[in-house]
Amino acid sequence: MTSTAIAHPNIALVKYWGKRDEELILPATGSLSLTLDVFPTTTTIELTGEKDDVVILDGAHLSGSESARVITVLDLVRELSGRDERARVTSTNTVPTAAGLASSAAAFAALAVAAAHSYELDADARTLSRLARRGSGSASRSVFGGLARWNAGVDDETSFAEPLEWRGPELAMVIAVVSSARKSVSSRNAMRRTVETSPYFPAWVESNAVLLDRMSEAVTTGDFTAMGELTEQSALRMHASMFGAVPPVRYLTASSVALFDAVAALRDSGVEAYATADAGPNVKTLCRASDADSVVARLSDAMPSVEYVVAHSGRGARIAAEEV
Ligand code: PMV
Repeated sequence: MTSTAIAHPNIALVKYWGKRDEELILPATGSLSLTLDVFPTTTTIELTGEKDDVVILDGAHLSGSESARVITVLDLVRELSGRDERARVTSTNTVPTAAGLASSAAAFAALAVAAAHSYELDADARTLSRLARRGSGSASRSVFGGLARWNAGVDDETSFAEPLEWRGPELAMVIAVVSSARKSVSSRNAMRRTVETSPYFPAWVESNAVLLDRMSEAVTTGDFTAMGELTEQSALRMHASMFGAVPPVRYLTASSVALFDAVAALRDSGVEAYATADAGPNVKTLCRASDADSVVARLSDAMPSVEYVVAHSGRGARIAAEEV
């Protein structure tokens, strides 16, 4: 039995940063994201008669903590389905791995969907979101297309993402690829350091919960301006919490900051655009789809050495056979 699933990365508008439970991957606050239509990950699972699972990412065999996260998800699916065959997992990213472009979100969402299918587990979307969460927190949101909110919850059952309906203008995300080098500190380690050492972490948790409530309201009312302003606030507050860690975690580079300035200049000239950045130097600019070309043109003028990719709202994780 071979199952292939496809999933896309998502970019958080309200960020997830910090866990309250590292093993279950329960977040300190809820978050909200847009699943994109670029950079898909394709994951194939084949059940084998071998005695160990095999995990291959972009042609390389994974071992240690990298394959352990995959095996955690497989073990959960085996437990729920009451089966025990081992699996060969082959995954291909089209986005540079671990460069703050959300490759793990797409990868674990595809893994959860492919694994449930191969072990014939009849899992609803909520269960798939919970399974994806155990690989990488942000993957809980890539199970769904478009906008999704990951409710922090209080335990494994209550911590899952759900899709949200957006009634505002069609959205675009202009991704400025400042660097596709692998990040120096994993988001897992950087989060732990922030939680344990940053005096700003409690303030981040408290204020991000407020931003999430306001963002949920902006989504309900289709208010693009509020969505954009809240997006920048959540990103900068997340990075501020990391700046306070010991030693500090600083993913933003001079180019990232220059891009935030260029986006602010765009706004001053009347094009509504808002910047966000994750665990890496790349900057993503949220705008109306109708403004995406002028955003790319203006950012290219300001920062010509950077590569720009325009993304829109994409689909949730799914079995590839359902593709038409
Ligand atoms: O799911 P992880 O462990 O890769 O964490 C991702 C955290 C951010 O991308 C920085 C923010 C987010 O909410 O996606």
